[in-house]
Amino acid sequence: MSRPKKRDVALHAPLADEPSLDTQGFERPRAFMDDVDEDLSPLLEISNRPVVSARQFDRAQIVQLSRLAARYETQPQVINRPLTGKILISAFYEPSTRTRLSFESAWHRLGGDVMSITDPLSTGLAKGESLYDIGEMLNHYGDVVVLRDSNEKSIYEMIEALRIPIVNGGNGVDEHPTQALADVYTLLKWRPGLADPSCQEPPARIGIIGVPGQMRTVRSLLILLSRFASGIAEVTIVTDETQPFDPGQREELEADGLRIRVENDLDAVLPALDVVYINAIAWKGDDYEAMGSRFRLHAGSPLAEGAIVLHPLARGEELDRSLDPTPHNWYFAQARGAVFVRMALLSAMLKTYV
Ligand code: CP
Repeated sequence: MSRPKKRDVALHAPLADEPSLDTQGFERPRAFMDDVDEDLSPLLEISNRPVVSARQFDRAQIVQLSRLAARYETQPQVINRPLTGKILISAFYEPSTRTRLSFESAWHRLGGDVMSITDPLSTGLAKGESLYDIGEMLNHYGDVVVLRDSNEKSIYEMIEALRIPIVNGGNGVDEHPTQALADVYTLLKWRPGLADPSCQEPPARIGIIGVPGQMRTVRSLLILLSRFASGIAEVTIVTDETQPFDPGQREELEADGLRIRVENDLDAVLPALDVVYINAIAWKGDDYEAMGSRFRLHAGSPLAEGAIVLHPLARGEELDRSLDPTPHNWYFAQARGAVFVRMALLSAMLKTYV
């Protein structure tokens, strides 16, 4: 039997350095810190509470969480392992690369220990145990729970029994608030002036290729963007769906000051956008559906010079790898920043800031 051929990779070459291009957002947190006053008091309201929805965050809290995240990103030496002896219960009843591992990385970096559930059938759920009863048990085993579940109601069932805080790591098509915090952290690094309502910079033109009523990442992001409406000229939703919003969703965002337009010709709108956020995955029931497959970004797309591209990842064909080495790629910095945002959030929830 012939041995399988090894892939043609440079096994003797040194590993690549972390990307350090400022143009891809890896070097920006320091600039963001320089522009923001240090005041952690807005974070007091976050302590010892569940985090279920992006609606729970106001502008001041988002800015100060981002400022704290920037401190963790730029000054890892200041972290004195404040979560030593604390346990995170990471319960992921739906697949995840980034959310689970970045929460666990965040908790480890703060000095704590982690217990993971990656298969619901390894728990009493397989025997018909309720999430309420599992929640009651988790009170005794850990200090914070992060839950991802395809059923949007699961988190509410568990909260009924919990006396420790829980974080929504994505609940069905409903919300993914900490992904949205990571998205806005990236935007604040790109344009620190967004944090300042009196900033004279031109308002940002943001495009979102996605479906607000069916994608939890987009739903939560729009809520957080509405907190920064004064710095945003317009949000253009690019979609083929005839009814991309849930009933009342668009009206709520517009009442909060966000200007929204809906288009379906991607290449026609791209040249006028400063930020292009793209997502194609919507979780439905126990599986995901790829939506908007005709909308694709690649190195030949008519992006404006200086425009940045964000994606919550995982990506499919909608985001071509030809964009990876370009200055438009801020999606890897966005994913990296999520670790520090989650450190900031967990610190705020437990009131242990460094
Ligand atoms: N962005 C995000 O939620 O990715 P995962 O599904 O890998 O957690």
